[in-house]
Amino acid sequence: MAATIRDVAKLAGVSVATVSRVMNRKGYVNSETEKKVKKAMKQLQFEPNHVARGLAGKQTKTIALILPDITNPFFPGLARGVEDVAKQNGFTVILCNSDDLGVKERAYIEVLKQKYVDGIIFATHNLLPEDIERMEEFGIPFVVLDRAPMTGSGCIIRVNNFGGAKAAVQHLIDVGCKKIAHVYGPQELITARERLAGYEEAAKAYPWYTPTLLAPGYFTLEGGLKAVEELLGRHPDIDGIFAGNDLMAVGVLKGLYKKGISVPDQVAVCGFDGVNLSEITQPELSTVAQPIYQMGELAADKLIERINHSSSQREVIELDVSLIVRESTKKCR
Ligand code: RIB
Repeated sequence: MAATIRDVAKLAGVSVATVSRVMNRKGYVNSETEKKVKKAMKQLQFEPNHVARGLAGKQTKTIALILPDITNPFFPGLARGVEDVAKQNGFTVILCNSDDLGVKERAYIEVLKQKYVDGIIFATHNLLPEDIERMEEFGIPFVVLDRAPMTGSGCIIRVNNFGGAKAAVQHLIDVGCKKIAHVYGPQELITARERLAGYEEAAKAYPWYTPTLLAPGYFTLEGGLKAVEELLGRHPDIDGIFAGNDLMAVGVLKGLYKKGISVPDQVAVCGFDGVNLSEITQPELSTVAQPIYQMGELAADKLIERINHSSSQREVIELDVSLIVRESTKKCR
């Protein structure tokens, strides 16, 4: 079987990213290391896919953004920020929707590689270490956003999910809530896990806390609606609900409305994201706002910087979130 970049890296005793830098003649590699890598390539008769990359040595001035769910209003906001910065720098954006499926994500990586995109921004969470190695092998710069895994040598841009969730619970306490439930997102997503952890960190300080105050909402409207039935069925005396994203929070508002429960006087509701939808609900939704547009701008800026300067060092950037107080939590104490 033909030798791979991983075999070369192992034999030379360096990382895949170093072998990629030698192959693509991009970024700094000291002469000793370069000799070791080239010796290993020769020993393994490793034939890098130089021809194709050579043909496309020049920039195609295109970048790709792979989103997990274009029906969720959080992602178009992200895409807007990416596209505006890309356009300012003369790049076109190829938008891909993976339906949160790893198999679709990997298929997109292959197609985008064949189209010689200059770089990829991932807002998905299915990337595997071997996917990251493949991109390093082909010298494709990448940035990961939001829920993406914290592995690899790319740039990772995320927000303080844990702190934001704690702030949401504290706000509900401050407005007088005495028993607060949490509708959580899919726990395979780091963003949902960290918000659940933030809720529990805050809630466990109170005698009313019990794990039965938790219900899944799958980051969807429908999920939030159903979670209300489950939670109030178990705890009719709940007077505050923190939902792990705004879509679920809107579903919670609808669920409470259908049960004739007034918001915020009987039950106060707080979401997470700060999508535009939270401004047009009745009552308007209090939420922990993410800097969605700015995350997109920063991701595009960082990717273009990596494309132009062939840097591939690992970089983790965590942005702050901010509580926006609206009608859905303005209880009369
Ligand atoms: O609403 C979609 C959610 O998925 C957002 O909270 C975002 O952080 C992503 O994880």
